[in-house]
Amino acid sequence: MYISKITGLGSYVPENVVTNDDLSKVMDTNDAWIQERTGIKERRHIKKGDGNSTSVMGVKAAKIALSRASLGPKDIDMIIFATLSPDMYFPGGGVQVQEALDMRTVPALDVRNQCSGFVYALSVADQFIKTGMYKHVLVIGSENHSGGLDFTTRGRGVSVIFGDGAGAAVVSRNETGKGGILSTHLHSEGKHKDELSLQGPSTQYWVPEIIEKNPQEDIPYYPYMNGTFVFKHAVVRFSEVIKEGLEANKLSVSDIDMLIPHQANLRISQFIQEKFKLPNEKVFNNIQKYGNTTAASIPIALTEAWEEGKIKEGDLVVLAAFGSGFTWGSAIMRW
Ligand code: ACO
Repeated sequence: MYISKITGLGSYVPENVVTNDDLSKVMDTNDAWIQERTGIKERRHIKKGDGNSTSVMGVKAAKIALSRASLGPKDIDMIIFATLSPDMYFPGGGVQVQEALDMRTVPALDVRNQCSGFVYALSVADQFIKTGMYKHVLVIGSENHSGGLDFTTRGRGVSVIFGDGAGAAVVSRNETGKGGILSTHLHSEGKHKDELSLQGPSTQYWVPEIIEKNPQEDIPYYPYMNGTFVFKHAVVRFSEVIKEGLEANKLSVSDIDMLIPHQANLRISQFIQEKFKLPNEKVFNNIQKYGNTTAASIPIALTEAWEEGKIKEGDLVVLAAFGSGFTWGSAIMRW
């Protein structure tokens, strides 16, 4: 059995900064409410005409990750693309990356696990490398949320939280003998699927039908989130899955050097930090700048933590995610 390791990280966010004050010009919200409830100060949104899309941002992040891994696109054996906001209903983002980077005809798999998408994708990459089937897997998390949110007061409980961006990791067979992915832990509980969901367009809600049946009504092609319900489950599942990962490796909370939680809400991260009594320097947050970028949030945060020198060789790095589905997961890595 081989061990896999992240050998390159990259991220990309659009240039267009949208502050809380900007949002308060188009809906009934304000900077104080958003900061107090979520910790978010600003987020990035794709601007019409800036050339960005979910796959384009993913490609930009991937190029950086590849160069940091000292690899070219032709070295990659598989693409795994995590998103809830693909450019097209089908095909997925993975094949768009395959084309854009002029890669070999390698497999391209899309992962649809929302905020847990990157951890799920990393886990899939880890399995393919462990068995020896592939040597280098490109894992991308990318989201264009701004293209599909309701920026009126009706949508404020959701739209102020989310931002656009992409992160990527090259996961490789570990040839160094040092560090690597120790384990990943994945879960789901579909009975809560409606609590955070986007129901249409889909095979049950085609757009013409929605428009015909609901001309003036609250229509299901904007995301719905029962925020308080999600929050309560998130804090429980984050804690459980972090503990599960540590116990599987006979480690304890005091062994954590860096916890990178999915950036859902700063209050959720702070709750976990307090529960585990972790000092500030052992928990990385950047939701203040980018909002919740769903499948992109962990790889963007991981990239920034690494760029800022906050992750060093030998560190125990823990990733943890929770999101729509509900789905949740963790990854335990020795850097
Ligand atoms: N600005 C001003 N007021 C607002 C806004 C806003 N943007 N949004 C909601 N409000 C109002 C509500 O209308 C409500 O008013 P009322 O009391 O008069 O009815 C009041 O503020 C409180 O609303 P709540 O929804 O109860 O606010 P809460 O404190 O729960 O915060 C939030 C909402 C930030 C969404 C929080 O519940 C949360 O972060 N939940 C978890 C999100 C999460 O983790 N998602 C998972 C990942 S996402 C994914 O997987 C795609």
